[in-house]
Parts: sequence; C-alpha cells; structure tokens
Amino acid sequence: MSEETIPDYRYVFQKDLLRGKVAFITGGGTGIGFTITEILMRHGCDTIIASRRLDVVRSAAEKLSKATGQRCLPLQMDVRKPEAITKAVDEALGQFKQIDILVNNAAGNFLCPAENLSFNAFRTVMEIDAHGTFNVSKAVFEKYMKNNGGVIINITATLSFRGRVLQTHAGSAKAAIEAMTKHLAVEWGPNGIRMMCVAPGPIADTEGMRRLGGEHIDDAMVKAIPVQRLGKREDIGNTVLFITSRAGELLTGTTVIADGGAWLTSENNFWKIKNSPMFKQMSKM
Ligand code: COA
Ligand code: NAP
Repeated sequence: MSEETIPDYRYVFQKDLLRGKVAFITGGGTGIGFTITEILMRHGCDTIIASRRLDVVRSAAEKLSKATGQRCLPLQMDVRKPEAITKAVDEALGQFKQIDILVNNAAGNFLCPAENLSFNAFRTVMEIDAHGTFNVSKAVFEKYMKNNGGVIINITATLSFRGRVLQTHAGSAKAAIEAMTKHLAVEWGPNGIRMMCVAPGPIADTEGMRRLGGEHIDDAMVKAIPVQRLGKREDIGNTVLFITSRAGELLTGTTVIADGGAWLTSENNFWKIKNSPMFKQMSKM
C-alpha cells in the first residue's frame, strides 16, 4: 500500500516546535510510523526512516519531504541485525550530526492462538519488537545520546494489559519493551535521556489493524470504545509530538495509552472468539 500524507493537518503546537532537531524512526515508511514521521517533520524536524524494504522507505521519504519541506533520509535496516543498525546510525550521524529523538516503531504481528504458534513464530516477534527496540536504542545511545541526551519513544500496545487473546507473542514482546523502558529510564536518565512508551489501541487504516481482524470491526465494536471511535494515525503522531516537546519534559519511564479507552472494554473471551467466523477464517491461513 502506498502511503499518503495528511491533506489538512491542523496544528495544535507551534509549527517550529522541533526546528533544528533530528529524529530516527524505525518502520517510518508505512502506517503509524509514516504519520509520526510526517508530524515531526511538519514541526521542523529532519528525519531518518529505516526498515527492511529500501524501495518503501525511499518512496515514503520523497513524499514526506515534498509535503513538509524537511529532509528525510531513507535507510535499509533490519532491527534484528546489530551490524546493519550500526551502519545506519553511522550514516544518519554522518549526514545530520545529531539524533535527538528515536522512535522504535518497527514491529511484526499476526493473530494466532498460542497452541498454534511455532517456536520460531514466537521468537521472530520477540526479536523484531523487543530485541529490535533494545538494539536500536543501544546503538543510538552509544553513538550519540550518551553524551548529548535525547528522547526515546517506544511504540507498544495494550495487548498485555489484560492478556489479549491470540496475542501471546506480541503481548509478551510489548510487555518486555515496557519493562525495558523503565530500566533504561533509570539508567540513562542522568545522561539527559527520557524513555517513554506510547501504546496505541486499534488505529484505522493500518497494517496492524488489518492483521488483527480490522475487517471484522463493526459498529457495535466501535460503540463499545469509550470515546466512540477508532484511533487515527494522527492521534499517535500528535501524542509522540507532545512527549518530545517541552510540555513533556517530566515524562519518563512510563506509558501513554492512546486508545480512547478501548482496552478497558474490548471483547477478550477466548471461547467466544474461538467460535467466531473471524477465528475460523484465520485458522485456514
Ligand atoms: N500465523 C502463525 N505463524 C506465522 C504467521 C501467522 N499469520 N506468519 C508468520 N508466522 C510464522 C512463520 O510460519 C515462521 O515460523 P516457522 O518457521 O516455524 O514456520 C515464523 O512466523 C517467522 O516467519 P517469517 O515469515 O520467516 O518471518 P519474517 O521475519 O520474514 O517476517 C513477520 C516477520 C512474520 C512478523 C511478518 O509478518 C512481517 O514482516 N511483519 C511486518 C509487518 C507487520 O507485522 N505489521 C503489523 C505491525 S503490528
Ligand atoms: P506497519 O505499517 O506494518 O509498520 C511496521 C513497520 O515495521 C513497517 O514499516 C516495516 O517495514 C517495519 N519492520 C517490520 N519488521 C522490521 C524489521 N525486522 N526491521 C526493520 N523494520 C521492520 O504497521 P502499523 O500498524 O503501522 O504498526 C506500527 C506500530 O504500531 C507497531 O509497533 C505496532 O505494534 C504498533 N501498534 C499498532 C496498532 C494498530 O492498530 N495498527 C495498534 C497497537 C500498536 P519493512 O517491512 O520495510 O521492514
């Protein structure tokens, strides 16, 4: 799917909020990562977007720069491969000389009951989400933030809060990231680094939602969400922006849940979901 920038973005914060700053966003070529990147750029930030598919980040970078007038460097990188990360961070610093903001957004997910998860499937999601977040954070810390400070925002989820059905792999990985965020907030705080998580709920028009049964979401499910609507990518972009801003200076080691209260009310009955058409359809996958 080709990504599009927001046609009618309405500013909440000053347009030059991030003037002179540089942000590194993993998985910034698609979905939520693309829109986080766009919103940071709309506020004066230059960016680096990195993921496995170079053609995807290249085309995204072109669109983002055109829409915002800021620089966006696309890089190929697998968050599971420390050497590729080191190379990408070196390349980013060679070009921009600084990385003030890191957004660990790259992730992998699918719906699967624990009993059908292969050992490799569980490991793969843990490696992309949890190991990937540590790998990129460590590389950016060593090469820049250790001596210069910064903000690291990890995109998690609400899956582990209630033990979400069919999400043992992703929920475990995101819970690990939330723990890691606290540990690093404590250790790296004195270096001037703030560590935060943003936990989105279901966000419309994303691969994540499609993979988690998006086409099965009906009116009744939306009405069950306390704010009565699904999230938008812009909601998550604006939340990230707020955390990076001076208004967020006291925020570290915690999670901002940006889901309209969805995790409090969403269906989580394994017996019922196991007997639903969605599950039956998925079991054929
Ligand atoms: N259900 C159950 N197991 C699945 C699965 C599914 N839908 N999709 C993949 N797997 C299993 C594979 O069978 C494999 O296990 P095996 O070797 O025992 O057969 C394991 O997961 C790894 O799959 P593979 O395709 O080799 O991994 P990859 O590294 O190429 O891709 C994924 C990682 C699987 C997470 C892939 O879906 C991906 O790249 N996702 C990125 C986009 C995304 O998930 N977006 C949503 C973010 S919330
Ligand atoms: P998405 O568009 O599929 O984004 C995932 C991104 O990660 C892709 O750009 C992908 O690019 C990249 N990626 C995957 N594996 C990678 C790897 N090994 N190395 C480097 N990059 C990798 O999905 P999304 O829905 O926007 O999700 C973005 C984030 O929001 C994720 O952290 C997700 O868990 C979280 N989230 C989403 C929702 C939702 O409703 N969508 C809800 C809660 C949380 P490549 O394929 O090019 O590598």
